[in-house]
Amino acid sequence: MKKYLAPMRGLTEFVYRNAFSRHFEGIDVAVSPFITTVSGKISNKHIKDVLPQNNQGLPLIPQLLSKDPLGFINMAHKLFELGYQEINWNLGCPYSMVANKMRGSGFLPHPDKIDQFLSTVLEKIPNRLSIKMRLGRFNDDEIFSIIPVLNAYPLSALIIHPRTGVQMYKGVPNLNKFEKCLPLSRHHVIYNGDIRSPKDYHTICERFPSVDGIMIGRGLLSNPFILEIIDKPQVKLDYLRLKSFHDDLYNQYRSILSGSGHVLGRMKEHWKYMSQEFHQSQKILKKIQRTVNFSQYESSVLEAFSLQREKNITVRSLMGLSYFPPVQ
Ligand SMILES: Cc1cc2nc3c(=O)[nH]c(=O)nc-3n(C[C@H](O)[C@H](O)[C@H](O)COP(=O)(O)O)c2cc1C
Repeated sequence: MKKYLAPMRGLTEFVYRNAFSRHFEGIDVAVSPFITTVSGKISNKHIKDVLPQNNQGLPLIPQLLSKDPLGFINMAHKLFELGYQEINWNLGCPYSMVANKMRGSGFLPHPDKIDQFLSTVLEKIPNRLSIKMRLGRFNDDEIFSIIPVLNAYPLSALIIHPRTGVQMYKGVPNLNKFEKCLPLSRHHVIYNGDIRSPKDYHTICERFPSVDGIMIGRGLLSNPFILEIIDKPQVKLDYLRLKSFHDDLYNQYRSILSGSGHVLGRMKEHWKYMSQEFHQSQKILKKIQRTVNFSQYESSVLEAFSLQREKNITVRSLMGLSYFPPVQ
């Protein structure tokens, strides 16, 4: 089962991807957080996150957010020149600022527009194209009008996050609707959403043996050992290894970002997820969120880790608590 790292803007850019690949195993390929397209000259600033020199760790598929075929074609060619034989089109972004402009999940109520876009773009780009999408923007049946459109095109994969755009991240993924999509699509389908424990992973694999892969985001940010544990159940979440990963990530941000505000801002976003696997997670997160300079941050982090080693805690994810409700 192929395992994809989910694109998460502000989190899984190249600093995270490189640090992850130095410390952990289990991801086969990463999809980059979205790049917006430009129709004119593309500078390195536009594509910094996917420049090959910044990406020596994990194989990468750059993701584009666009409703502009010309900008998309322009960017696709640039990425091909850089060596990217596959790119991904974002049809899932739920934020109204994006979706109201008919980008991301804003495309989903308009299968005719998706059709037009793909018919213009696909014959003019040298790359393979995969799509990452939700079930719909407003309701979870929109996908059933889209799949027949997509079936007419040679896509390399269809990554489905079975929520709607307006749902954002609330509620649970609609596995019943996802199941109905599988026999309808002629493309390789990748499942994405709420895999937070090895048990969640096995639930998905057992229920949907025809899926070609899974994509994982928040679950991996909370517990970067999760894929190693899936492959080798004897692996345990090891706080010393986690600390050395943390330090690497932190030092990389320090070396490329200017000013403590930017570095701490990034690290605090990571802690929203990482703290979930910590004993006294709320307390730890609050303390880290309050820090305003490097020395405060470093001492709070040290305290957080030393607390875990002293308590020798049992980690929630290793107890196999499932995030999914039982199958109806
Ligand atoms: C902070 C944040 C940023 C995200 N950025 C992107 C993005 O740039 N492109 C995209 O396709 N999805 C993005 N997503 C959605 C994730 O890729 C993924 O579909 C979602 O988190 C569900 O998977 P998970 O439960 O494994 O995290 C983002 C999600 C979050 C929470």
